[in-house]
Amino acid sequence: MSEKLKVGILGGTGMVGQRFISLLENHPWFQVTTIAASPRSAGKTYKEAVGERWKMTTPMPEAVKDLVVMNVNEVEKVASQVDFVFSAVDMTKEEIRKIEEEYAKTETPVVSNNSAHRWTPDVPMVVPEINPEHMKVIDFQKKRLGTEKGFVAVKPNCSIQSYAPVLTAWKEFEPYEVVATTYQAISGAGKTFKDWPEMIENIIPYIGGEEEKSEKEPLRIWGEIKDGVIVPAKTPVITCQCIRVPVLNGHTAAVFVKFRKKPTKEQLIEKLVSFKGQPQELELPSAPRQFIQYMEEDNRPQVKLDVDFENGMGISVGRIREDSVYDWKFVGLSHNTVRGAAGGAVLCAELLKAQGYITKK
Ligand SMILES: NC(=O)c1ccc[n+]([C@@H]2O[C@H](COP(=O)([O-])OP(=O)(O)OC[C@H]3O[C@@H](n4cnc5c(N)ncnc54)[C@H](OP(=O)(O)O)[C@@H]3O)[C@@H](O)[C@H]2O)c1
Repeated sequence: MSEKLKVGILGGTGMVGQRFISLLENHPWFQVTTIAASPRSAGKTYKEAVGERWKMTTPMPEAVKDLVVMNVNEVEKVASQVDFVFSAVDMTKEEIRKIEEEYAKTETPVVSNNSAHRWTPDVPMVVPEINPEHMKVIDFQKKRLGTEKGFVAVKPNCSIQSYAPVLTAWKEFEPYEVVATTYQAISGAGKTFKDWPEMIENIIPYIGGEEEKSEKEPLRIWGEIKDGVIVPAKTPVITCQCIRVPVLNGHTAAVFVKFRKKPTKEQLIEKLVSFKGQPQELELPSAPRQFIQYMEEDNRPQVKLDVDFENGMGISVGRIREDSVYDWKFVGLSHNTVRGAAGGAVLCAELLKAQGYITKK
């Protein structure tokens, strides 16, 4: 037990924070020793602070029930107890940017679920199967921050996980134009049907800021490090519409793609199912064995049947077929609060540990 890295969850009482706590129960490398939230929760036990707000389908882990919640803003105090932190606080972007750097400056690595630092030039934004080499930009970030061990690393938005891995698997066919429509679950807004009853039998054609993230973030992930910063790729161009649908967990994407080098359907499927990255090679604890599955049935992937593929860390793809305007079209599905949020961040932290960026203090 004492060999495990001590981890703190900033925003541990919220929806993503709860997901972190559930995913880290019995984690072989990491042990949740500290939970921090707003001053409203500070001083209460975790069980008291969360109260009726526990939103996971599994019970609250015994090990955290009696931890006394700390105040996120007491940076030195929280940082002194942990080897690194996961961040899932709901504050303004400016406040998050500032506080995450303050934690980094206490020599505490921050693996963040928040969007605040996604475009900070020397902060890596990583899907471990796609761009693990971007973690090297941390060396430049540490110079800027004046730290030896402290840094910020982030994971991208949940909406892109249903198509960015797929387009990456098809890179050699040179996709150059992509149209995507995402059908996004309400848990992506931190909600359940109990606290958002207006979503029952409803569709809302707007999610603030989501379309820009969906169009631009994949390009940063496909970018490269030049002169100490990540320079985004220029293609493929992506245009996107993001729609909120009455689904609890699971973002679906319907996608059209044009390729410079025309693939066959068999080649497309073969590239998906054989796609592997460092998490699979290193056998990281949270890595899905099969990152992308292809489903032949016309009515798959379905949210209810397929969202938990590989414990929510895998991507399900179906309905690859030729298109009369674009070359090919497909439907993708991923779990927005597992692969798209806390699970994606845990996998980033496992990669950072394997690469030597996160160690005991
Ligand atoms: N839900 C998703 O699927 C998802 C996906 C990607 C990214 N995100 C992002 O992740 C962050 C957390 O999302 P969430 O859905 O988990 O939100 P949430 O359920 O509202 O939880 C917010 C957390 O932040 C804390 N907090 C709120 N105001 C604070 C303040 N002024 N100072 C310090 N802590 C404060 C809350 O503490 P108290 O309990 O004490 O209020 C709680 O722990 C957000 O920035 C969100 O945009 C969410």
